[in-house]
Amino acid sequence: MFRVLVTRAARVSAPTNRNALVSFSRYAHSLQFATVEAEEVSGSRPAEVLNLVQGKWVGSSNCNTIVDPLNGDSFIKVAEVDEAGIQPFVESLSSCPKHGLHNPFKAPERYLMLGDVTTKAAHMLLLPKVSDFFTRLIQRVSPKSYQQAQGEVYVTQKFLENFCGDQVRFLARSFAVPGNHLGQQSHGFRWPYGPVAIITPFNFPLEIPVLQLMGALYMGNKPVLKVDSKVSIAMEQMLRLLHNCGLPAEDVDFINSDGKAMNKLLLEANPRMTLFTGSSRVAEKLAGDLKGRIKLEDAGFDWKILGPDVHQEDYIAWVCDQDAYACSGQKCSAQSLLFVHENWSKTSLISKLKDLAERRKLADLTIGPVLTVTTETMLEHVNKLLEIPGSKLLFGGRPLEDHSIPSIYGAIKPTAVYVPLEEIVKDKNYELVTKEIFGPFQIVTDYKSSQLSIVLDALGESACPFNCCCSF
Ligand SMILES: NC(=O)c1ccc[n+]([C@@H]2O[C@H](COP(=O)([O-])OP(=O)(O)OC[C@H]3O[C@@H](n4cnc5c(N)ncnc54)[C@H](O)[C@@H]3O)[C@@H](O)[C@H]2O)c1
Repeated sequence: MFRVLVTRAARVSAPTNRNALVSFSRYAHSLQFATVEAEEVSGSRPAEVLNLVQGKWVGSSNCNTIVDPLNGDSFIKVAEVDEAGIQPFVESLSSCPKHGLHNPFKAPERYLMLGDVTTKAAHMLLLPKVSDFFTRLIQRVSPKSYQQAQGEVYVTQKFLENFCGDQVRFLARSFAVPGNHLGQQSHGFRWPYGPVAIITPFNFPLEIPVLQLMGALYMGNKPVLKVDSKVSIAMEQMLRLLHNCGLPAEDVDFINSDGKAMNKLLLEANPRMTLFTGSSRVAEKLAGDLKGRIKLEDAGFDWKILGPDVHQEDYIAWVCDQDAYACSGQKCSAQSLLFVHENWSKTSLISKLKDLAERRKLADLTIGPVLTVTTETMLEHVNKLLEIPGSKLLFGGRPLEDHSIPSIYGAIKPTAVYVPLEEIVKDKNYELVTKEIFGPFQIVTDYKSSQLSIVLDALGESACPFNCCCSF
């Protein structure tokens, strides 16, 4: 099993070792694992992000300078590996056999070792100082409100609590089935893939890579992890925390690179499985390149339908605002298209939604920079939609004011455009209306009970049943 999905309640195993408790409180006061101070990273004191290969942190002659999304200062230098520098990563991955670092017959003590590492990491993330450190670091690179960034740390901490003590080995539970005659049985074992790759996007700098990485490690895989360079500092610091908690340095390689170098690494190292989270464009390319040896969590155009029963108007308006605009609309589960039954037209739902959206402000990052779509692109999209007959701007549709967000990023007010349902389903409009805009933007439409079949038609091609991981 490569990735672990967790839905059940956390079960915590308390550390039994006094020394472990002593070292937790020491970390709490000094954050000895960390090499940066989240608040102090700046143009005058840039942070450096390194790569980890064959158990060693290494730099690179190739440096990608990341600009502060809030003021444009060159505040992080990421040592990026280019196509000529991937060989150590290829060799490291190739050194892992297909039976993995451990499996039910090989080095089973590693299941308990990883349970101990996880126990310590879960306790560390529970310490207010450590949780605050990662929350603020996430905010620096992927600006979102403190509450949203802390939600990411919280989910990660809860995930780790699931795999404390001896829980990891239970993931590898095998089965046996009696055969046809004496002496015959079939056995199934949870087996690692061995060398694997994990590629993650910019919008959840900690949660996505930690959950995917730990699932891969628990089952005995050796992963090479690549996080989008814009935000990889958060995961670099998390790996340092995991090492402090006892994770062997050779168990994971961590590479910073552009897509091209990573693509080459995948082709040369030939991991037996790759887990990719990101855009559909890259997902489709990799699915072809890797001949299907890949699991995808790709883009989403996500809809919400308000049915004919009108109730809890304030709450519904609040949920719609959160789903469309929290994290400036940069969750893969962000609401892209809202269908509103005509019964809601007698209520003040849309004006409540507008009021809530307009309360969002840059000062507390309830609205902020959009890291992959520029202001021009988003406003151009709005204008194209407004050319559709019957469309109108409900709110937003303007750039943010009084800010120093660099122009390579986007900065618009939370925006909603109304498009009539019958226009959405026309062939000439459908592609435009259902284009994923990874920012604070949504389409709103309305429908009558007699138009339910048109609503279902509209969903047929745009529905994404897989977006699941980041609604909180
Ligand atoms: N389904 C989910 O759970 C989920 C979660 C988060 C984000 N997303 C999606 O991710 C997208 C936003 O993220 P993004 O803009 O960072 O996506 P992206 O596809 O541009 O990049 C994702 C990662 O892939 C790397 N990459 C790019 N080209 C590559 C190549 N040829 N080979 C190997 N790696 C390559 C990038 O450097 C980055 O680390 C949105 O479309 C969003 O819906 C989906």
